[in-house]
Formats: sequence, structure tokens, C-alpha cells
Amino acid sequence: MIVKLLAFAGSTRTGSLNQALLDLAVAEARSRGAEVMSIRLKDFDLPLYDGDLEASAFPAKARELKALFLAHHGFLIASPEYNGSVSGVLKNAIDWATRPTDGESMVALSAFRGKVAGLLGASMSPFGGLRGVTHLRQILGTIQTVVATEQVLIPAAHAAFDDAGALKDALPAQLLGGLVAGVIDLAERLEPSTA
Ligand SMILES: Cc1cc2nc3c(=O)[nH]c(=O)nc-3n(C[C@H](O)[C@H](O)[C@H](O)COP(=O)(O)O)c2cc1C
Repeated sequence: MIVKLLAFAGSTRTGSLNQALLDLAVAEARSRGAEVMSIRLKDFDLPLYDGDLEASAFPAKARELKALFLAHHGFLIASPEYNGSVSGVLKNAIDWATRPTDGESMVALSAFRGKVAGLLGASMSPFGGLRGVTHLRQILGTIQTVVATEQVLIPAAHAAFDDAGALKDALPAQLLGGLVAGVIDLAERLEPSTA
């Protein structure tokens, strides 16, 4: 099977260190034979989740994002740490994509159930955004996504990349290969469905 992965970062800013890290994971996954679509959450311009809005006019962009989740076997997600957790942008995108559409049951979680995920985090702190990625692991587990045990955290991320965008240290670069290999392997074993 050709593993299809959707890649996105929880930071939308120009020059995002998490986007830079994600770009490396995307290149790694492609080099290992996966088909990867890399999207920017900023392009979806999602409103904040609101139950009234959901009931009256489910946003087309949220539906579009959910359709992309459905069409892939899994996700590569680079998450910044904001105040010890994931960014609001990332959580909001996940929240919209968990909502039922087209007559699904409340607990269908079709965009996430049985899919796989690989997590990365970059932070200027010495801990590399560990708390954010740990929360993300818990969130994804709650919505039935199988998260690879491998993860990549880049501390002092402002100094971690060279001018060409590569990681300066050999170890995190090696870990990145292990993470991507783990995600592809999990997807092949689980064969998550796509729509
Ligand atoms: C609202 C906010 C809260 C933050 N809280 C944390 C934090 O709890 N831990 C941390 O390591 N960095 C924190 N940071 C710093 C971010 O990790 C840093 O800005 C990082 O570069 C953001 O990722 P990006 O480069 O992908 O945008 C915070 C930044 C913002 C904007």
C-alpha cells in the first residue's frame, strides 16, 4: 500500500520553527515512499468552534479540512507549545474535524478513528515543547488515533537549523527518520481506511 499522510503545523506564523521541522519530516516521509500532502492551517481560516455556528452553517472550510483528514491514512503534526499545551489554532482545527457530518453519529470520529499520527515539536525552551506534544498525544488518543511511540522534540530550536533548513545535530535528524519510519510502519500494519 502507498501510505498517504497529511502534514500540518500548529503554528501559522511566517518563519515558524515547527513548520521548518515539519518540512523535514515531510521530505523524510516522501523519501521513504509515502504520499504526503502538506497543508497550512492558516489557509483554512477556520472560525472558532461554536455549536450554534455548527448547527446553522457548518463552515465549508471545516468540512474541507475534515475531508482531507478522511482522505489520508495518518498525520504528521508539528506542535508548538503555548503555555504548556497545544496552540489554539491546532486544537480548534482538531475540534472542528471531530464533529459529525452527513448524518454521522456523535461518536463516529471518522476523521481520526484508527488513523495514525507522528508528533514533532520545536521550541526555544530547553524542553522542546514536550508538554504541548504530550497533551497532543492525549488529545489524539481520546479521539481514537494511534500515535506512534516515537516523537521528535527540538529544544533551543532557534539555533537548531542551518541556513539550508537542515538540523545541525545528527541525533534529532536520526530520530526524525525513526519517527517517520514508525508512522509508515504503523499505517501499513493498521491499513486505516480513507474516504
Ligand atoms: C502564547 C504563547 C505561549 C507560549 N508558551 C510556551 C510554553 O509554554 N513553552 C515553550 O516552550 N514555549 C512557549 N512559547 C514559545 C514558543 O514555543 C515559540 O514562540 C515557538 O517558536 C513557537 O513555535 P513556532 O516557531 O513554530 O511559531 C509560547 C509562545 C506563545 C506565542
